[in-house]
Amino acid sequence: DFEGERNVWRYEAALPVDDGVSLPEGGTQLHDVPGLEAEIGVERLRVKHEGMNPTGSFKDRGMTVGTRVAQKVGVERLACASTGNTSAALAAYGARGGMETLVLLPAGKVAAGKVAQASLHGARILEVDGNFDTCLDIVQDMAMRGEVYLLNSLNPFRLEGQKTIGLEIMEQFRDEEGSYPDRIVLPVGNAGNTAALYKCFRELVESGAIDESEVPKLTGVQAAGAAPMAEAIEHGWEEHQRWDEVETRATAIRIGNPVNAPKALPGIRETGGTATAVSDEKITEAQRDLAGEGVGVEPASAASIAGLRKLRAEGVVDDDEEVVCLTTGHLLKDPEAAAEAGADPEPVPGTTAGVLEYLEAN
Ligand code: F0G
Repeated sequence: DFEGERNVWRYEAALPVDDGVSLPEGGTQLHDVPGLEAEIGVERLRVKHEGMNPTGSFKDRGMTVGTRVAQKVGVERLACASTGNTSAALAAYGARGGMETLVLLPAGKVAAGKVAQASLHGARILEVDGNFDTCLDIVQDMAMRGEVYLLNSLNPFRLEGQKTIGLEIMEQFRDEEGSYPDRIVLPVGNAGNTAALYKCFRELVESGAIDESEVPKLTGVQAAGAAPMAEAIEHGWEEHQRWDEVETRATAIRIGNPVNAPKALPGIRETGGTATAVSDEKITEAQRDLAGEGVGVEPASAASIAGLRKLRAEGVVDDDEEVVCLTTGHLLKDPEAAAEAGADPEPVPGTTAGVLEYLEAN
């Protein structure tokens, strides 16, 4: 349907169905950020801004596939647990596909823009007294009982769609720079994207499209208050340990039990990547720095830049590397966090003379 356009369904050959419930999604910008590139000190830095998808996050790439599969299977009610973005995407794609949607959100821990989206697109919103991991436990149980069709990233069809992030990065970077990136740095919550990118690169190698040596190093970044994957990598553990207590300003990645870790940890290790954790202060700083280059992202997204900055300072990332940071969600998803990180409005009188006088004095 979208032949010639830059979107997810250009990559139909790599996807499990012919077409999707589509808004359409994908084809996002690969920004240059010269200020950050120079300051962090890498050969090349690009930012793949997934906040530019129809509902403002990368989740749309998975939902276009997942909701089509749900239609084919013939289910009535779609459901997910969510820190916000998945619920917004599910609500929109469910509405588009004519299906009922149910979302379980951790009460009080979801950014305003995301709840508003889920609400207006017509999802039933259940505010759960518990964190995201509890929500996911419940919705998994409900799916096992046949009550709902699960559209969290445990659903493999979601991750098939999210593989197109990797396909686009490789294609765009090669077209613009003549090479493939050495490293991809991304925020990690449930580790779905990390697992999807790893599968994407394995398929590219197996098909002969790229050489094993051309696979970018997968580098995951978590918030320090919710960092079970970074902990597992640091200690060389085979599996992560579930964190029961989690807290971070980056509510999108406020997750203590990344369910895709069994698929993501091998991806990080086998590509020669790593995982690290960054403080909320560093996340806010990176969010401001990205905004200063015109790229507006929500806090979780800025974790990728904060993580790259940390790994570069530690010498884990070299100065000759070509790096793509993934920014996963739009600034407007979390207007409260953006307003807190930015400058305060200044009250002035309602006259030109009053405004000019104020500007002179301040
Ligand atoms: N960034 C944003 C903005 C997210 O919303 C999420 C996940 C992630 C990063 C982490 O991605 O799970 O693939 O490692 N959000 C999910 C949600 C959990 O419910 O919206 P991941």
